[in-house]
Amino acid sequence: MQTVGRMKFGRGQCKAGQKATRSIHIPRVSSTRIVKIASAATAVQVTAREQIKSFEQYKELYEWSIRDPAGFWADFASQFHWEKKWAEDHFDYNFDVRKGPVFVNFFKGGVTNICYNALDRHVAEGHGATPCLLFEGNDPDRQKALTYAETLEEVCKLANWLKAKGVKKGDTVAIYMPMILELPIAMLACARIGAVHSVVFGGFSADSLAGRMEDAKSRVLLTCSGVMRATKSIKLKSIADKAVSLCAEQGFNVDTVLVYENDNAIAAADTPFTPGRDHWWQSEVASMPSTCPVEWVDSEHPLFLLYTSGSTGKPKGVLHTTGGYMIYSAATSKHVFGLQRGDVYWCTADCGWITGHSYLAYGPMLNGVTNIVFEGVPTHPTPARCWEVVEKYKVKQFYTAPTALRSLMRSGDEWVKACDRSSLKVLGSVGEPINPEAWRWYHEVVGDSRCPIMDTWWQTETGGHMITPLPGLWQEKPGSATLPFFGVVPAVLDEKGNELEGEAEGVLALKQPWPSTLRTVYNDHKRYEENYFGPFPGYYFSGDGCRRDADGYYWITGRVDDVINVSGHRIGTAEVESALVAHPSCAEAAVVGYDHPIKGQGIYAYVTLMEGVGHDGVGDDALKKQLVAGVRETIGAFAAPDVIHWAPGLPKTRSGKIMRRVLRKIASKEEEQLGDISTLADPSVVASLVNLRGK
Ligand code: WT7
Repeated sequence: MQTVGRMKFGRGQCKAGQKATRSIHIPRVSSTRIVKIASAATAVQVTAREQIKSFEQYKELYEWSIRDPAGFWADFASQFHWEKKWAEDHFDYNFDVRKGPVFVNFFKGGVTNICYNALDRHVAEGHGATPCLLFEGNDPDRQKALTYAETLEEVCKLANWLKAKGVKKGDTVAIYMPMILELPIAMLACARIGAVHSVVFGGFSADSLAGRMEDAKSRVLLTCSGVMRATKSIKLKSIADKAVSLCAEQGFNVDTVLVYENDNAIAAADTPFTPGRDHWWQSEVASMPSTCPVEWVDSEHPLFLLYTSGSTGKPKGVLHTTGGYMIYSAATSKHVFGLQRGDVYWCTADCGWITGHSYLAYGPMLNGVTNIVFEGVPTHPTPARCWEVVEKYKVKQFYTAPTALRSLMRSGDEWVKACDRSSLKVLGSVGEPINPEAWRWYHEVVGDSRCPIMDTWWQTETGGHMITPLPGLWQEKPGSATLPFFGVVPAVLDEKGNELEGEAEGVLALKQPWPSTLRTVYNDHKRYEENYFGPFPGYYFSGDGCRRDADGYYWITGRVDDVINVSGHRIGTAEVESALVAHPSCAEAAVVGYDHPIKGQGIYAYVTLMEGVGHDGVGDDALKKQLVAGVRETIGAFAAPDVIHWAPGLPKTRSGKIMRRVLRKIASKEEEQLGDISTLADPSVVASLVNLRGK
């Protein structure tokens, strides 16, 4: 069914017992041992509400978390504000499709509000003057700061504006904004009134935005005039307008659009504006009352939708709910980064992705830290930018993606060394496998060999970190996400779904729910069940391959499905293929990933032209450009193919199925290792494709 264990990009090269970078003892935690310990009831001495000080404490807490998830998470949740406490039996679930519908409940009966816990709670406890959001513009001279009390006021004003426009509890609100303070403010304002936000990354095209607004039935859109990214200006409002028109063509009306004027990029005068439908943020929101009552919601009330790509079909609207997501994003932020109130923490992710939801908007604020919101790119104006920001604000925890590290590593160590990084305590990595070279550079050069590296494995669907080190509690190994977080029970399965014990390689599944498990795919619970719980009944299937070593450490080897990960952005090959086929000259397309030195994976597209186009199935460079432009238009610039390979024929089985394995080998110039191709309908296709490489 799946292709198991495709090794990617330097992964799996590190053997257990390899040169230790710091001299901490490597504990042996094989999965079998974890299970055994779990069944022996131990008196719990510590709770996860406090900082964890030793590997022994981690083990004790871990056992508790999987033996008694209801009790463990209730204990952690008790430090937050609940308008009404959860019921005694607040946790139940079914992960087994054979037994009935899949569902997960955490803190059932409990009533709370995540915005209250992220803002009001800190203000009520006397921390209103603590800086909450620090804005660092694309231009290093632009900055802004809001305290917790000020952020709360901004959130309330926007919440009041949304209410005045008729937004009610349960309505979905689309947000298409760049990384300015108003983006997390918008998310929190929705949460405050029980509205469901659906943030669409600012790099997505009008088509993609339209599809998401239509699917979620978002009648209200919050957007921005535009943004500067390095030296390029992007007219977001023009893209948003096109998306609204596309929705109207499909019979769906977006009737209210709020536009923030980001005048350093695109001024109001240069921004298209439709009176009646459109409203200027600065003129309307500022005059709203700065207090707004909280809408208390049930723990399982939907908090947000975030669309993500799968191996087939349209992107899925992953739904997360309030209580479980709140508790898990808070717990992982606290323990993985060692957060303490007032710390200056910087996550470089965009709020358009799950990392920006859990580890910028929610988790850190639930912990009362100071969050940096960075509008720019890591290499502008120079490759020193990140380290200048670290020095300027004395950043303690820094969280970024391997792709950024690889590009900064290329620019040379001098940019890093020129800045004072002595404030850094913990470094994090997310989004894709981190290759050992980048890991070592991060550790040795950026962190001066002092800071532990948190290689966090998780997904949009998991809502929070699943497999990750905890700072200083056990030895990391470059390239391994190491051990499970509390409440997470990973399983390595073979192709038939048998659970493998000890050292093993297979696909990664999760055995029982954690509080921020996705609850459904919006409007398509069947797809949720089929996609995540169908392949291996009883388990959540991650779509990733994985190896567990002799120490019980997990090594993620990359996706085993038709999803590729480009610079930490998840892209469905089927989506790129359908964007290519939309071009009138393209008859068929097949897209695969290939190893890319900076992006992790690049997009490699095989294109079969329509009869009569090109010469013998080969087009010219102008046509290549048009095809790439088509993908940018349909999905977004980040999904543009790196390579177009003319394919008069594609390697297909006799039943017509494309053998992607063959295409991957040709893309990575490894055609001598094709393996068995005897089931191909026409094996000569392989040689002709190899001949056309680079044409
Ligand atoms: C996929 C999820 C996690 C938030 C950002 C991406 C890959 C993610 C790691 C890691 C190896 C990783 C997986 C996963 N991935 N983190 N530390 N090591 N692979 O979220 O867009 O939902 O993508 O990203 O393949 O399935 P996403």
